[in-house]
Amino acid sequence: MKKNIAVIRGDGIGPEIVGQALRVLDRTAALYGHEFTYTEVDMGGCAIDKWGDPLPPEMLQKCVASDSVLLGAVGGPKWNDVPGPKRPEKGLLRLRAGMGVYSNNRPAKIWPQLASASPLKPAIVEKGIDFIIVRELIGGIYFGKHETMTEGSEKIAVDELRYSDSEIERIGRIGFETARKRRRKLCSVEKSNVLDSSRLWKSVMHRLSAEYPDVELTDMLVDNCAMQIVKNPSQFDVIVTENMFGDILSDEASMITGSIGMIPSSSLGETSCGLYEPIHGSAPDIAGMDIANPIGTILSAAMMLRYSFDLSDEADCIERAVGAVLDGGYRTADICEPGCRKVGCTEMGNLILEHMTKG
Ligand code: IPM
Ligand code: MG
Repeated sequence: MKKNIAVIRGDGIGPEIVGQALRVLDRTAALYGHEFTYTEVDMGGCAIDKWGDPLPPEMLQKCVASDSVLLGAVGGPKWNDVPGPKRPEKGLLRLRAGMGVYSNNRPAKIWPQLASASPLKPAIVEKGIDFIIVRELIGGIYFGKHETMTEGSEKIAVDELRYSDSEIERIGRIGFETARKRRRKLCSVEKSNVLDSSRLWKSVMHRLSAEYPDVELTDMLVDNCAMQIVKNPSQFDVIVTENMFGDILSDEASMITGSIGMIPSSSLGETSCGLYEPIHGSAPDIAGMDIANPIGTILSAAMMLRYSFDLSDEADCIERAVGAVLDGGYRTADICEPGCRKVGCTEMGNLILEHMTKG
């Protein structure tokens, strides 16, 4: 199979972790007889420095024209004072919107090898943590009007949160379909005791529920959900929620699995061209030190193979290799515990390559 992948290394640890993921993709191609070519794309702070724009239109074009996009991370303190519309993160939001990837899938699954790295009590972890957050990605407060103005002597800032029922319906369907492939439990998370947008959300979910009688739909308020994720995470199978709630809950969900550095994500729209990125940030404090955990990015590459290219054996091969390396007791600093062998980013990449064999 021939595929062209747009590669966004980004800022901070981005270039290091993407470098390892590309080595893993190259090894996969060699093992299974595929041809992956890469188109480099500038986005984020590095694009601001180079082009004065966090995502120049021709860069977005390269992504849209690719078979899928692999992204490291963007942003950092260097660009903290850049005005809102030019911030590195704005590049990422424009990329998501430009690619039309409205459905962001963030798995929270505990690797048994890392169970003791979870901050939760063993009694809670033992019941199992294996759920997916389906986050709406190109609507809501992230894409509403952002305004700062002065009224008299006061500064006022307004961020608009709007959803249409068709936007809710298309992500709701992804929630139901995802649950259908798993344990058939869907939890719709909102704040319908306060927000109109959430009341609309809830009513659309219930309307759709009639079409998916085999999936059990429950509703949960977002504040309660934040609590339930640490109190009893085994109750969840699939959570479907709006953009900002999904952003917040997915960081929480990743942490209970041991480390945010382990969690990949996929973002898809109506086509197979997806955006694949780890859910962590650019970690500028450890950039360039070769100590970052590349596994979230490597697993994102595996998700690309599985969901955009339909190459599930190849994805399994990568995931098996990650498991074998963890079995061997190798850990990057973020997941290292007494008795384990601490390795850097490149060494983790080397180990994963060594363990890749055709299943
Ligand atoms: C994420 C990140 C982004 C988001 C930031 C970098 C804009 O936190 O992917 O979760 O809020 O979506
Ligand atoms: Mg986030």
